[in-house]
Amino acid sequence: MGRLVICDHPLIQHKVTIIRDKETNTKQFRELVDEVAMLMAYELTRDMPLEEITVHTPVSEAVGRRIAGRTMGLVPILRAGLGMVDGVLQILPSAKVGHIGMYRDHETLQPVEYYISLPTDVEERELIIIDPMLATGGSANAAIDMLKKRGCRPTKLMCLIAAPEGVKAVQERHPDVDIYLAALDEKLNEQGYIVPGLGDAGDRLYGTN
Ligand code: PRP
Ligand code: URA
Repeated sequence: MGRLVICDHPLIQHKVTIIRDKETNTKQFRELVDEVAMLMAYELTRDMPLEEITVHTPVSEAVGRRIAGRTMGLVPILRAGLGMVDGVLQILPSAKVGHIGMYRDHETLQPVEYYISLPTDVEERELIIIDPMLATGGSANAAIDMLKKRGCRPTKLMCLIAAPEGVKAVQERHPDVDIYLAALDEKLNEQGYIVPGLGDAGDRLYGTN
């Protein structure tokens, strides 16, 4: 079973509460999603391997540690996943970015795929899938399926808010993927929205409805 990590740092919790508020406007929403993504990236990179390195300070030799060259890739699910990419890139500036285009059919709640573009060396990279919302889990599962079918290694799924139904669906289908959240909410409503959630993440990020 993949790990479920709730990033409960006070700054993340504070910002997510403002993100949820329906009075938060598009500009603030976008800025806060970006900031939370950056803060969550600290938690996601906690298990990066280190190696020893000796440097020379002005005083003496110092044995320090540096990241042992793990190559990462980010794969946001369009549209809403795009809102978190720049924040993560602030922590992982060398990561390459692929894109998966997918939307949920409003009637059936089934994901509809419309686009995929991946970096050329994607099979060599450890991939983080990025999407603010994990509701039924259909979109995340379909994105992970698409990546695995192409011989890729998606290891982490990063979302702002999830419903228990979505977490369960991903853990059952992809037990090799760890899930990182800022909040685990109560349930889905009849329309497949997360309760209490934040509404439609894409619409709030881009001012559509
Ligand atoms: C939202 C969200 C996820 C999906 C989650 O995207 O960004 O991709 O719904 O729902 P699920 O877990 O039930 O699949 P949406 O379909 O609204 O597309 P958008 O990002 O283009 O607005
Ligand atoms: N997609 C969203 O944007 N919000 C939800 O609550 C569920 C799916």
